[in-house]
Amino acid sequence: MRARSTRLAGIALAAGLGLASLAACGSSDNTSTTPGSTGDAAAGGKKIALLLPESKTTRYETFDKPLFEAAVKAACADCTIIYSNADQNAAKQQQQAESALTQGADVLVLDPVDGAAAASVVASAKGSSIPVVAYDRFIEGADYYVSFDNATVGKIQATTLVDLLKAGGKTSGDLVMINGSPTDPNAADFKSGAHSVLDGSGFKIAAEYDTPDWSPDKAQQWMEGQISAVKGNLVGVYAANDGTAGGAIAALKGGGVTPLPPVTGQDSELAAIQRILLGDQAMTIYKPIEPEAEAAAKAALALANGQTPEKTTDFKGVPSTILDPIAVVKDNIKDTVVKDGIYKVSDICTGEVAAACTEAGIS
Ligand code: GAL
Repeated sequence: MRARSTRLAGIALAAGLGLASLAACGSSDNTSTTPGSTGDAAAGGKKIALLLPESKTTRYETFDKPLFEAAVKAACADCTIIYSNADQNAAKQQQQAESALTQGADVLVLDPVDGAAAASVVASAKGSSIPVVAYDRFIEGADYYVSFDNATVGKIQATTLVDLLKAGGKTSGDLVMINGSPTDPNAADFKSGAHSVLDGSGFKIAAEYDTPDWSPDKAQQWMEGQISAVKGNLVGVYAANDGTAGGAIAALKGGGVTPLPPVTGQDSELAAIQRILLGDQAMTIYKPIEPEAEAAAKAALALANGQTPEKTTDFKGVPSTILDPIAVVKDNIKDTVVKDGIYKVSDICTGEVAAACTEAGIS
């Protein structure tokens, strides 16, 4: 427990110092190699490849990468990490995976841009007897899978939205759904989980959009087009993550929609926590990344050493660790992301957010 909070404090500090941009200096194709503290693979440590999908969503460079590296190094000082970020480009990720295999990676930890296309990465890794951990997003044929319960994420987002609308006295009206990337298997699970609650809720889903690349800009453009289509009937916006929520909110504000309808989100990004305090966003989902990164590091090290990793369950026939997502609204910001040391009060309560923090009892 102490190790966990110390590690997170270090990460938070590094994030504040612009760790993401430092990491990006590594090389032009977003690939870097981090030797362990006492040696490198030549000295006997394993080479672990971490392949993340994008950098517009803040979690990857700010939390997943440093927490995964810290977990590997804590367990194996002489292991080496080959790190790549694909910037939402599936072809680039395929090359990064091939390059990791050429560099002698002993295991791939792959968060795929395109879940279906990643099956060929698994096949080529298997051809070289290299195991693959599917990180956060499922890949058919992977040796291990670590994620959150993604259908539950969608259900919680939608339930929170419906509950908020009903608490505000609304039982009917139009909703729009801004889903995630069509190539991300998680996005399909968020969407079906949300539909299982919204369909038959009394509210009408007037329009729905699968956001290419999870792009906040594309979400914003689409929402701008919907404002005149749904006219005054819009009562709520289901947005699958905080990036798309930010795009939707910018469009609604730009279109002069007042009051803003409740908008959902996911990832507990700092900007989203601030929007929740200001009343611009209704909720987000908190997925503690540290246990996810630690489970992936543990599984990767076991597989790299020819051992069978411990599992808590099987998902589609793949041994897995599946973690629980948590809903965050104004009232529990203090007991979730602040309590867990994800953000310091001083990071959240800046500028115009300061007064909202005081009102919400966050100090
Ligand atoms: C999902 C992931 C979310 C979010 C999104 C955008 O697969 O589970 O946490 O980051 O991708 O990249």
